[in-house]
Amino acid sequence: MSAEGVDLKKRRFLTATTAVVGAVGAGFAAVPFIASWNPSERAKALGAPEEADISKLEPGGLVRVKWRGKVCWVVRRTEQNLADLKTLDGQLADPNSDVESQQPPYCKNATRSIKPEYGVLVGICTHLGCSPTYRPEVAPADLGPDWLGGFFCPCHGSRFDLAGRVYKGVPAPTNLVVPPHQYLSEDVILIGVDGGAV
Ligand code: FES
Repeated sequence: MSAEGVDLKKRRFLTATTAVVGAVGAGFAAVPFIASWNPSERAKALGAPEEADISKLEPGGLVRVKWRGKVCWVVRRTEQNLADLKTLDGQLADPNSDVESQQPPYCKNATRSIKPEYGVLVGICTHLGCSPTYRPEVAPADLGPDWLGGFFCPCHGSRFDLAGRVYKGVPAPTNLVVPPHQYLSEDVILIGVDGGAV
């Protein structure tokens, strides 16, 4: 075998190897490029924000919106509801929303909301994940004379007020979650994105 023959073979091998490495390199380079091309697909997989139309929501009413596979509620509180919320602190486990994981910072206030009138909550009990029932009526027979409206979990009896604050002495350990949200207009709430992040 001539020296030239060896060199030729080596060169062919090196050329082939370089081509393979180049293709693999191009493949790796293409992945993040394609991913960044489709942010909406990735956002969908994570759970894109959902709009809640509150234009027809009456005082005392509630609308449901699905976000990330979870039911979220928008509840419209009456003036009486807002007055009643102020009287409940002594009966609640976390009246001031000190558990930070349960609401965004802009909802750490007396009504746990951006606008006092509207509460936005994830409708999942913080005990074992059942779906609490909206019980806006005052003093119904099954919930007792002190009930001023709120959410009742039928699984193990946890109770939450109309701001999603959990009562003392029930199985649920924390307030209901307030999801990130913002107002797109007077009539539309976008659930899933903090204000200013869009
Ligand atoms: S899951 Fe709601 S009280 Fe247990």
